[in-house]
Amino acid sequence: MTLRIACLPGDGIGPEVMDIAHLLLAVVSKQSGIQIDVSEYPVGQKAIDETGDPLPPETLKAALNSDAVLLGAVGGREGNWPESAVLELRRKMDVFANLRPVRTVKGVVTSFRPEVVEGTDILFIRESTAGAYFGEPKGPVQGEMRAAVDTTYYNEAQIERAARLGFGLAQQRRGSLTSVDKANVMATSRLWREVVNEVATEFSDVKVDHLLVDAASYLLIRQPQRFDVVLTENLFGDILSDEAGALVGSLGLLGSATIGESGPGLFEPVHGSAPDIAGRGIANPLGMARTVALMLSYGAGMPKEAQALDESIDRILVQGPVTPDLNPDSKAGTKEVSEALAADFESRL
Ligand code: NAI
Ligand code: MG
Repeated sequence: MTLRIACLPGDGIGPEVMDIAHLLLAVVSKQSGIQIDVSEYPVGQKAIDETGDPLPPETLKAALNSDAVLLGAVGGREGNWPESAVLELRRKMDVFANLRPVRTVKGVVTSFRPEVVEGTDILFIRESTAGAYFGEPKGPVQGEMRAAVDTTYYNEAQIERAARLGFGLAQQRRGSLTSVDKANVMATSRLWREVVNEVATEFSDVKVDHLLVDAASYLLIRQPQRFDVVLTENLFGDILSDEAGALVGSLGLLGSATIGESGPGLFEPVHGSAPDIAGRGIANPLGMARTVALMLSYGAGMPKEAQALDESIDRILVQGPVTPDLNPDSKAGTKEVSEALAADFESRL
C-alpha cells in the first residue's frame, strides 16, 4: 500500500511546523512498511509570490488526486487575502465537516484553575463549506458612504450532512451532542435547529441539546466538561474552537481534520501563520502533530498508530520539552520538541 500525501506548508510558521509531519510520517512508514509519498506544493502568500494565485491549479489538482492533504497555515501581506486559498480548497474538495478535538492533558499549565478544565474532552464539528464565509452577495456596497455586506446562507442539505456526521461521531463517543446556533435572532439558525432536530430522530441513542452561541462561549470556559460533541455553523465554530485552545494551554496544540462523504480529507492545525513568532524557531509543533494523528485515523485508516501518537504527545506535554507558549521559561524550540516527540513515538510503534 502507498499513501500519497499532498503537503502544502504555506506561510509563516506553516513550514516550520510541517517539519514534524515529515519526521512522524517517516516513523510510521519505517515501522509499518507502508510507503508514504509526500509531495510539496505552494499555497497562500507563497503561491501568490511564485505564481500570482493563492491556490495554483497544480496545487489544487495534487490535492484532489491525493489520499490526504496536509496544510500548514496561510497568511500574508494585507490586501492579498491568501486565506482565500483555504476556503477555496475546502469548497473544491467538498470537505464540509471540520473536526477539532479539544482534550486537556492533566498536568499541563493553562490560564484556568486545574479543576475547571481537567477532564475536558470535546469534539467540535464546524460546518466548513457554507455560512457567512461563502454566501453571496459579499463585498463592498456602492452608495453614499463606504459599506460592505456578507451573506449567511444555509440550506437544509448543508445542515443535514454535517448533523448526520456529528450524530454518528457522538454515537462513537459519550453519546451527547450540543448544537450551537443563534436561533433567537438569525433565520439560518432557526433552520439549523429545525434540521438538527429532524436528524436527531434517527439517532435516538444520542442526547441532543441546543445552546445559543453567546451562552455556549460562556459555558465553554465556565464548565467545559459538560460538552461532548459540539455541532455548529462555520463562523461560530471558527471562533469557539480558538477559544477552546485556551482550555488546553495553547492554540498551538490543536489539530483539525476536515472531511466529506468521500475523497481525500484536509488536515491542518487550527492556528494560523502566526507572523508575530514566525522565523524564530519557537512555534509549537504539537498542533501539527495532533493533525498528523487525525490524518492517520481519518485519512489513512491507521487508528492504532494515531492512538500511539496521541499518547506520545500527551507524554511530551507533561515531561517536556515544550515551547515557550506553554512555559515562558522554556528554552526549547520547535526542532527540539519535534525530535523528542518523534523519538518517543518510534519507541511506541
Ligand atoms: P494565529 O493563529 O496565527 O496566531 C494567534 C496567536 O497564537 C499568536 O499570538 C500566535 O503567536 C499564537 N500561536 C499560533 N500558533 C502557535 C503555535 N503553533 N505556537 C505558538 N504560538 C502560536 O492567528 P492570527 O495572528 O490572527 O493570524 C495570522 C494569520 O494567519 C492571518 O493572516 C490569518 O488570516 C491566518 N490564519 C490562517 C489560518 C489557516 O491557515 N487555516 C487559520 C487562522 C488564521
Ligand atoms: Mg480560525
